[in-house]
Amino acid sequence: MTTPEPADRVLARASLADGNPTGWFDQLYTAAARGEARVPWTRGAPNPDLAAWVPPGDGRRALVVGSALGDDAELLASEGWAVTGFDVAPTAVEAARKRFPESTVDYVVADLLDPPGEWHHAFDLVVEIINIQAMPRDFRAAAVSSLAGFLAPGGTMLVSEVAEENVAPEPGPPWPFSRAEIESAAQNGVRLVSLETIHDGARYWAEFTR
Ligand SMILES: C[S@@+](CC[C@H](N)C(=O)[O-])C[C@H]1O[C@@H](n2cnc3c(N)ncnc32)[C@H](O)[C@@H]1O
Repeated sequence: MTTPEPADRVLARASLADGNPTGWFDQLYTAAARGEARVPWTRGAPNPDLAAWVPPGDGRRALVVGSALGDDAELLASEGWAVTGFDVAPTAVEAARKRFPESTVDYVVADLLDPPGEWHHAFDLVVEIINIQAMPRDFRAAAVSSLAGFLAPGGTMLVSEVAEENVAPEPGPPWPFSRAEIESAAQNGVRLVSLETIHDGARYWAEFTR
């Protein structure tokens, strides 16, 4: 008997065949809400690496890319950041608002590939954890360019993605990053501060500033 393919892979393949790199995310969240699928990245708690790393916000502005069900955005808010969390999947944004009805986080539906113009150079902290790698490589350069554009002068940008050099090749999602692709976020005035691997080399953890 063969193991059934996970829902995220099946939905991603159909969405990509239609030329849509992000449509499957909302389909997956919707199917999960009906109890018909599992969202593999959902853990019901903030990312522990982010929790150990996040500096105090002191009211400064933070942007959480791919905010999903809101755990990382809420973590940053609890550390004093004025947080905007955005996700391309309306079902995820709605679920985050419902999970945290008293939240100070501004949850927004938006696409990293076509972000609001007013976010340009607007955030003192930008957090990107395993979202860009969830789109095929054809979209990588555009996504990384948008990401770098969010960072305000003097701010910090965190980028964490699966490290291609240390994982066995598999059909995506995810589509892991090379070291050079992580470094490519240093563009248009953004500089790399540090680049290391975590979890026995499985993930990159990179900090940038402008
Ligand atoms: C693999 S999940 C990671 C979620 C979260 N960052 C984490 O670490 O658990 C990718 C998330 O990014 C969202 N996403 C994917 N492509 C996006 C895009 N182009 N713009 C905004 N959000 C996107 C998906 O809907 C999903 O919630």
